Amino acid sequence: QGGQGGQGSDSQLPTRIMLRLTPGIDCHTHDYIRTGHLDSKFGFDPDQIEAVFAFIGQQPNLTCVGLHAHIGSQIFERQPHQDLAEVMVQWMEKAKSYGLPVTELNLGGGLGIRYTESDDPPSIDEWVQALCQAVKAACESQNLPLPKLLCEPGRSLIGTACVTAYTIGSSKTVPEIRTYVAIDGGMSDNPRPITYQSLYRAVVANKMSAPVSETVTIAGKHCESGDILIKEASLPQTEPGDILVVMGTGAYNYSMASNYNRLPRPAAVVVANQEAKMLLRRETYQDLIRQDCLPDSLLG
Ligand SMILES: Cc1ncc(COP(=O)(O)O)c(C=O)c1O
Repeated sequence: QGGQGGQGSDSQLPTRIMLRLTPGIDCHTHDYIRTGHLDSKFGFDPDQIEAVFAFIGQQPNLTCVGLHAHIGSQIFERQPHQDLAEVMVQWMEKAKSYGLPVTELNLGGGLGIRYTESDDPPSIDEWVQALCQAVKAACESQNLPLPKLLCEPGRSLIGTACVTAYTIGSSKTVPEIRTYVAIDGGMSDNPRPITYQSLYRAVVANKMSAPVSETVTIAGKHCESGDILIKEASLPQTEPGDILVVMGTGAYNYSMASNYNRLPRPAAVVVANQEAKMLLRRETYQDLIRQDCLPDSLLG
């Protein structure tokens, strides 16, 4: 196999790789979006790493140019990434001792965003500064040259750029327990709440100046009791036809959306300079059955 850079497959250049390591760092986020702790399916464990370095160092077709880790998502503290920088710089030194020409360090993503009022993430600037300072300090103490530092932020770049609009339908009050308010979407357009109990904030777009008067449970339209988009939404009095807008749906919504219950995915519209333009067209029922085949033998 040829290396990167367009040389083609007959150039016999070694393939440039980075190794993903599991640094054994815990962070305070949901279990399903923690990836850097020891009991993780991702990356090589600390007790495997030296054997991997030795193995890679003997492969003429591989050049290990750097190390990589991603410890999880929706992280608000700076400490886990600072600890990560320190651990990874130590592993870079170890990799060099096995003759690996590592010059790049990728610390993954994970910077959280503000889904609800109590979320308090650092800014991108603060996060990047904390990472850079930690890498610099670790390199100084190990006497290593500074690596090319990479990171892979996801939601922090785009999460707050989008909202999702739903139409409110019927409601049901279970006396002394809760009021369910139904919407025309749910876990198929936003699988995060059912997957990792993610919290969201919503407003009623056509009643922005109305006072908040009730706490309701926003129920999705799928055949799962767990399809609850927001367990406790503080809203003005709602009625069928109101438009419920859920904030912070720019990341991991459309990319994780599905046709659960064979529901078509909604449209996406970009709004800029007082103009609205179609970004993704709404799926039709025809789209849903596009791949269906009916063998002649079943037609009778
Ligand atoms: C390897 C890797 N890097 C970066 C990210 C982005 O994470 P986030 O959106 O939390 O910044 C992910 C998300 O799953 C990931 O798996």
